[in-house]
Amino acid sequence: MNYLMGIDAGTTAVKLIIIDERGKTLSSETQEYPLFTPKTGWAEQNPSDWRDAVIRGIKNILEKSKAPAGAVRAIGLTGQMHGSVFLNSENRVIHPAILWCDQRTAKECGDITAAVGKSRIFEITCNPVLTGFQAPKILWLRNNNPGVYRQVAKVLLPKDYIRFILTGEFATDVSDASGTSLFDVVKRRWSDEILEKLDIPRSFLPECSESTEITGRVTKEAAGITGLKAGTPVAAGAGDQAAGAVGSGIVEKGLVSVSLGTSGVIFAHSDDVFVDPKGRLHTFCHAVPGKWHLMGVMLSAGGSLRWLRNTLFSETENYNTLTAMAEKTAPGSEGLLFLPYLTGERCPYPDPDARGIFFGLSLKHKKEHLVRAVMEGVSFGLKDSVEIMKDIGVPVGKRFRISGGGGKSGLWCQMIADIFNGDAVRLAFEEGPSYGAAILAGTGAGMYPGVRQACRELIKEDRQVFRPDAAKNGVYNKFYALYNSLYGALEGQFDKLAEIS
Ligand code: XUL
Repeated sequence: MNYLMGIDAGTTAVKLIIIDERGKTLSSETQEYPLFTPKTGWAEQNPSDWRDAVIRGIKNILEKSKAPAGAVRAIGLTGQMHGSVFLNSENRVIHPAILWCDQRTAKECGDITAAVGKSRIFEITCNPVLTGFQAPKILWLRNNNPGVYRQVAKVLLPKDYIRFILTGEFATDVSDASGTSLFDVVKRRWSDEILEKLDIPRSFLPECSESTEITGRVTKEAAGITGLKAGTPVAAGAGDQAAGAVGSGIVEKGLVSVSLGTSGVIFAHSDDVFVDPKGRLHTFCHAVPGKWHLMGVMLSAGGSLRWLRNTLFSETENYNTLTAMAEKTAPGSEGLLFLPYLTGERCPYPDPDARGIFFGLSLKHKKEHLVRAVMEGVSFGLKDSVEIMKDIGVPVGKRFRISGGGGKSGLWCQMIADIFNGDAVRLAFEEGPSYGAAILAGTGAGMYPGVRQACRELIKEDRQVFRPDAAKNGVYNKFYALYNSLYGALEGQFDKLAEIS
């Protein structure tokens, strides 16, 4: 039997998976690591913690799965996107990795936009420059720590540091590179024009490949410390969202997924480049060679419900209790709306100062209304991204694949169906980005003819389909119209609140 390994260097932990060639999971393994916030809005990790966790994880999963290392045909990498790992000329890490959720670079985002030109940066990268992206972090280091910056020889994305540990190669893939603000997303290559205008040496960046390409092989040294077989091929892999989409089968025109994790993500495959001229969504290269994807990222989706539970409910009241309560109330939560901007927002409003709101509170509202309003507010926020996709011509089918912890709630799946006016389905089994990375590796190693064919064969939907209810959709449409107007009405007030608090 041939096996594949997927490694996902996430924000809280590395998750590893071994699957067989028919896509069955043999074993999975998680190793956690800490996240540091030395200042408000900062988020850092030590790449050495990732490295140690990956080494421990590979050893454990090989032992647990009993898969002979020689039977692992290829390894696929994925991980948190946008982070920066700074290496010196001796390949040593010289600064903590600055993560995707770090907010320190507002000034540098403005500087980049001014240096390249607002419309030109859009034309090339298909996106505005956002604080979490990689390029502003490179400039931040140059502005704030010139001594360290002078030593920089390479800047890597998180999963690509793991690649370096395993193969000794510097490489990345088109989907992860898309989130750097240094990448020509249309032409699928680094942008010499942006690099030149920002005075960032091209030598800082690794080679960039399509996600299925093999970018190196496990070295003898890495084999010695992990138990892998030296020479095992390592595929380029993808950023966690693109790899997760492969793992959910979102690899064909019209397919859209809804991920209800701490954050919420609407992800649509597209055969062509579609860009929202207002920059409210991300347009990145997909892990399917030669294709793209659009993505709306909401920062607090399941995170909003977790906040509500932790704030208003006792320890014995779990998510099942909460959703059972919400089920007792009607769509629209009897006139209560929730804006889920608890940690600011990214899509469709890139606004770190936006905040959460309950709108319409009255004496009749009880805890169950608050729960339902939170679930509805998150669903409305995700609908914002779907509506923008439709407006700019992205093919959006009438079926939504739901994943993430929130998808375990049947009520939430039904709500998505009713609010989006389309069928909602879960996957028969869900392993996330590491599974997608393993499929990309299998394609690169020639075990599958292509990513699409592999997904058609390996990924199955659950039998239960949540169908939209026309009457509920009608009610929700009225509330959605009001929800949709609230951010615009309050934008200036959020700024004032930030000033005085
Ligand atoms: C994608 C994004 C997150 C991070 C962390 O744009 O910011 O998915 O990759 O998971």
